[in-house]
Amino acid sequence: MRQPFVAGNWKMNGSRASARKLIDGIKQGIDSVATAEVAVCPSFVYLADVQAMLSDTRIALGAQNFSDQKPGAFTGEIAGDMLKDFDCKYVIIGHSERRALYGETDELVASKFITALEYGLRPIFCLGELLEERQQDQTESVIARQLDAILALPGGVEGLSKAVIAYEPVWAIGTGMTATPDQAQSVHAFIRERIAEKDANVAAGVQILYGGSVKPDNAVELFSQNDIDGGLIGGASLDAGSFLTICRAAGA
Ligand code: 13P
Repeated sequence: MRQPFVAGNWKMNGSRASARKLIDGIKQGIDSVATAEVAVCPSFVYLADVQAMLSDTRIALGAQNFSDQKPGAFTGEIAGDMLKDFDCKYVIIGHSERRALYGETDELVASKFITALEYGLRPIFCLGELLEERQQDQTESVIARQLDAILALPGGVEGLSKAVIAYEPVWAIGTGMTATPDQAQSVHAFIRERIAEKDANVAAGVQILYGGSVKPDNAVELFSQNDIDGGLIGGASLDAGSFLTICRAAGA
């Protein structure tokens, strides 16, 4: 039985004050979420504040990105052990915004995957197709290519047992255009089957989240699909009430 999981990806939003207010609100309502694991991924500069506020809660902390390199002369980068210093349990890697806007390749994402595991961070590995790719019937080949970058690594399949996967169709991110539950389920099942070709146990155990315009009013239907184990939430994670409603939809 896979534990439902909901993570909030705050992206580059908010202020120190609004981050504190948001955490206060989530903390106040967290007891209404019975079974789902809940995590928040604030901006780097708010990690210390959020860590301190979460210390007496069951809400986990994650970062939105990090460097695949070990500490050294990498101006502006953040190393895995720095994230561990702030009790980060998770780190998002391969988000489509990083792939599209910052040129992150499958190869770099794979390198981050390995580095995250070396530091004992659980990668939230994102993958997803563009609208043109879906329209040209290339969804599965794109997902396969992105997933194979991890599966081809030495220890890659075993690594997935310590990771979380997030399927985020790029056309659904921040657009209000959610994948239908059937569309999402079909890709989630494809991902699980492809992992099962290498290791059936890992495939059965890995949590696969859906991300892309998850809102309080569509979360229940999405999360009721067999292979959807929760969500990676952008916009709706910036409001405590909406985020908690989505968390309850995954496991009240
Ligand atoms: P939205 O929920 O705002 O569509 O963002 C999804 C996402 O990119 C989460 O990582």
